[in-house]
Amino acid sequence: MSQRVALVTGAMGGLGTAICQALSKAGHKVIAAYHPQFDNKDQWLQEQEAAGFKGFIAVAGDVADLDSVQKMVAEAEQQAGPVDILVNNAGITRDKMFAKMERDQWDAVINTNLSSLFNVTKQVSAKMAERGWGRIINISSVNGVKGQAGQTNYSAAKAGVIGFTKALAQELATKGVTVNAIAPGYVATKMVTAIRADILEGIVNSVPMKRLAKPEEIGFAVVFLADELSGFTTGATLNINGGLNYQ
Ligand code: CAA
Ligand code: NAP
Repeated sequence: MSQRVALVTGAMGGLGTAICQALSKAGHKVIAAYHPQFDNKDQWLQEQEAAGFKGFIAVAGDVADLDSVQKMVAEAEQQAGPVDILVNNAGITRDKMFAKMERDQWDAVINTNLSSLFNVTKQVSAKMAERGWGRIINISSVNGVKGQAGQTNYSAAKAGVIGFTKALAQELATKGVTVNAIAPGYVATKMVTAIRADILEGIVNSVPMKRLAKPEEIGFAVVFLADELSGFTTGATLNINGGLNYQ
């Protein structure tokens, strides 16, 4: 496989780390994009090196802020060259029943989980099209597909990710650039372990496989979609959720 340059947002979180490692194992050069307020960047890089992942390039940027993202991608390209594979992975939750949800909780999730796709993809998609090759992989969620009580903000944003994916896939279909989404079910990261224990128990029981996904099980899907042979796959949403019922 030819080495490509892959930029992963939210790279130092649970899923992001697994995605960076999987892309690196597949032979790609990885740019790990992290939140400017994340304090443990050096420690994360050291842990990756200790685990055998030596070449990661770290760049800081707030995906919810267009100016910040412009600078982040410019720095990434200066260090690693043009981005061939973009993984829009950064995301947050601000769970509240809609009756109690405040506008700032709505805005934070829409800006970070959906408007970020405009901010980051905008920096790379036209250049991918000019070069005639690209892979854009957007991390949605089962809760964007089925809806989830307590997550009107998050479900709306993640459903929006799927709409964005299908629309941009059509625009880039003749340019060698594929655009796909992954809709993970509940994965064992801090986003999920933060859920109240009794609620989390109910969630796990509702999954036919009766367990959370391992982050690597999502990283593998990213590598699949980034592959040369995924060139005919576009506008798709890959559901990886242990059989979770959509009804
Ligand atoms: N459907 C309908 N109503 C529900 C409900 C459900 N699933 N769950 C709770 N309710 C009702 C309750 O019965 C209760 O009603 P009353 O006021 O009439 O008694 C009301 O909603 C409030 O429920 P809670 O006591 O749970 O309210 P809370 O304020 O303590 O907590 C919450 C609200 C934070 C949203 C909490 O319910 C919660 O954490 N729910 C889980 C949400 C969830 O699945 N988040 C996923 C996070 S991980 C992630 O997002 C990753 C991914 O992509 C999969
Ligand atoms: P996580 O461990 O909390 O990682 C999220 C990452 O996004 C963190 O590194 C976080 O950085 C970063 N981030 C948040 N806001 C950002 C911003 N404004 N700019 C730049 N980076 C930002 O959660 P995760 O489970 O790995 O989630 C990764 C993605 O998968 C999210 O999009 C999530 O919605 C999606 N997802 C997760 C699950 C699941 O069950 N875990 C299921 C389906 C989809 P800081 O920590 O420094 O803020």
